[in-house]
Amino acid sequence: LSIGLLFGGESPEHEVSIVSARSIAAHLDPERFEVRPMGIARNGVWVLNGDPFARLAAGEMPPRGPYPFLPLEAGAEMAELPDVFFNAIHGAGGEDGQIQGFLEPLHRPYTGAGLLAMAAGLDKWITKRIWESGGLPVVPYVGLTEEEWRRGSGEVLRSLAALGLPVFVKPANLGSSIGIEKVKREEDLPAALERAFTYDRRVLVEQGLTVRELEVAVLGGDDPRVSVVGEILPAGEFYDFKDKYLDGKSTTRIPAELPEGVANLVHRYAVDAFRALDAYGMARVDFFLDRSTGRLFLNEINFIPGFTSISMYPKMMEASGVPYAELLTRLVDLAVR
Ligand code: ADP
Ligand code: DAL
Ligand code: MG
Repeated sequence: LSIGLLFGGESPEHEVSIVSARSIAAHLDPERFEVRPMGIARNGVWVLNGDPFARLAAGEMPPRGPYPFLPLEAGAEMAELPDVFFNAIHGAGGEDGQIQGFLEPLHRPYTGAGLLAMAAGLDKWITKRIWESGGLPVVPYVGLTEEEWRRGSGEVLRSLAALGLPVFVKPANLGSSIGIEKVKREEDLPAALERAFTYDRRVLVEQGLTVRELEVAVLGGDDPRVSVVGEILPAGEFYDFKDKYLDGKSTTRIPAELPEGVANLVHRYAVDAFRALDAYGMARVDFFLDRSTGRLFLNEINFIPGFTSISMYPKMMEASGVPYAELLTRLVDLAVR
């Protein structure tokens, strides 16, 4: 099978995606798959010629070619479509339904969830609403549009005050902790919101808990399997971008050592959370275990989780009996089934 490996993209997680995709390309079973790297440059142009990994890593942004309906670079060599697309684009463009909607009319299978799940799942606000309506526990939050914040109604200010301090301010549609700030003093909230609104016109303000951070990997279709529970031990005050990708100081535990009953609850909520969004293929579901009350909350779902061989999703699956290369094969099989 030929595999069109999509990576890069226009979101701030562009570089993270290059790293995930290089690892995927290196481990896809060469007996079964022929990998065709298809990079999407930061300007949205599809880079197919030469070595797309190297070209994207060098920051190349070629102009669009003369193809009115396709954002391909000029001279793109593509006589036929690949048999399957393997989507390794994190965040906006790849993990929000856009690429899925683009691929559907091509009638070629792609890995991971479909348009609806992706679009809902990347949006932290919509995700919480869907989970809440299914009776799943989420951390108390207030969602705000930029316009609502500027209007500054008494109701908005009261609901923000009711969250107490600290709070976490998050753009609704992002990942890798980009744009997320912990706010400890009331007077710092307006500036944090202003910064968040530079990323998105919709922002969440969440009650800041003192937490253990648990994650679990989900793989499959309607009756998905769930991995052992993993734990992140951030090195800094919270699990921010620096901690995720730059310092390498945070540590992980797989499986996590948990109080009686917590792992079962994580598994149950993870499958319910996956199904509530009509997900398919894979997802990493992230939880908070409140250290003071022992309560478990769903935090977020990632349909294109970090995907190097040492990222949490593959490591949790590996600890549950599915090695990395086999995981990649299963994802392709789930796409073409
Ligand atoms: P992203 O999609 O960018 O990963 P998250 O919602 O997972 O965004 O937030 C990133 C990190 O910020 C979390 O892993 C956690 O360390 C911290 N964090 C986010 N929300 C809260 C909260 N309500 N209470 C405590 N810590 C939080
Ligand atoms: N959004 C990043 C890649 C993750 O959650 O793993
Ligand atoms: Mg997260």
